[in-house]
Amino acid sequence: MDRTEWIWMNGEFVPWDDAKVHVLSHGLHYGTGVFEGIRAYETERGPAIFRHREHLGRLHKSAELYYLEIPFSSDQLRAATHELIRRNGLRSCYIRPIAFRGYGEMGLYAKQAPIDVLIAVWPWGAYLGEEGKRNGIRAKVSSWRAISADSLIPHAKAAGQYLNSVLAKEESVKAGYDEAILLDQQGFVSEGSGENIFVIRDGVICTPGHTSSILDGISRASVIQIARDLGYTIEERGIARAELYLAEEVFLTGTAAELVPVREIDDHPIGKPGEITTQLQTRFDDALHGRAEEYLEWLDLVEQPSVERASRVTS
Ligand SMILES: Cc1ncc(COP(=O)(O)O)c(C=O)c1O
Repeated sequence: MDRTEWIWMNGEFVPWDDAKVHVLSHGLHYGTGVFEGIRAYETERGPAIFRHREHLGRLHKSAELYYLEIPFSSDQLRAATHELIRRNGLRSCYIRPIAFRGYGEMGLYAKQAPIDVLIAVWPWGAYLGEEGKRNGIRAKVSSWRAISADSLIPHAKAAGQYLNSVLAKEESVKAGYDEAILLDQQGFVSEGSGENIFVIRDGVICTPGHTSSILDGISRASVIQIARDLGYTIEERGIARAELYLAEEVFLTGTAAELVPVREIDDHPIGKPGEITTQLQTRFDDALHGRAEEYLEWLDLVEQPSVERASRVTS
């Protein structure tokens, strides 16, 4: 992992090596934390954070679902993130805000343990590789089912829940695949270990709906809007496992992975990235990098200090 100079922690900027928590932090023992994965891209107008407000909104909603009170507003976290990117001198980066129950009390009802909040930023390339983005990845349907809505909260991006994703990812990589696809408790397609999934059948773009144990992905919502704007029909519906193998095209979306074609599932060939996938990938990439006029409102520009101000600061 690429280090940067500063991390924002509970309201202060601290050097990377000093960003430490106590070993008895509650979140470390019980997974009681919520987090976000966000990206900033280099654009013509400087670094811009993709759908920053939506990500911070989801962070607060995830916290609320687990009865965690984040002691900072979205506006405060947004300002801290902007300053962090500036201080670290980054043009583009991955952004990881996390809020978790900290040190102070053990046991499951630990209201005396404070909520720690930190934000880290670092350069991070394509999560499933540039080659995967270009030519597609190989996926395996996991033997682990996605967490169900009657025991955990798929709508929350919560730390402990990721043990489910870790199991699925480990299994798929050990078996020689790039990524796992999880089924929900009913045996319908849910999502990747860290991405939402889209399946194209008879020219219609299908994706599992909210009752299929998915995270309500922000990339998913963006790609759905782009596809509709391009005139495609989107169906949110239950998807049978065999439809993965029968699909004309399959792709995954997520902040870390971006839009990644799937070329093979359980050794059934899907083929090289198809026309619709490629068109959506290009359009989505344009949106991420500020090249698509109609999606500029999705970008939160990180203002750079003016030349005059910068020289005052350094002199
Ligand atoms: C389990 C899971 N599903 C889906 C996604 C995609 O969500 P988003 O597009 O908001 O990054 C992610 C990544 O955050 C994830 O971890």
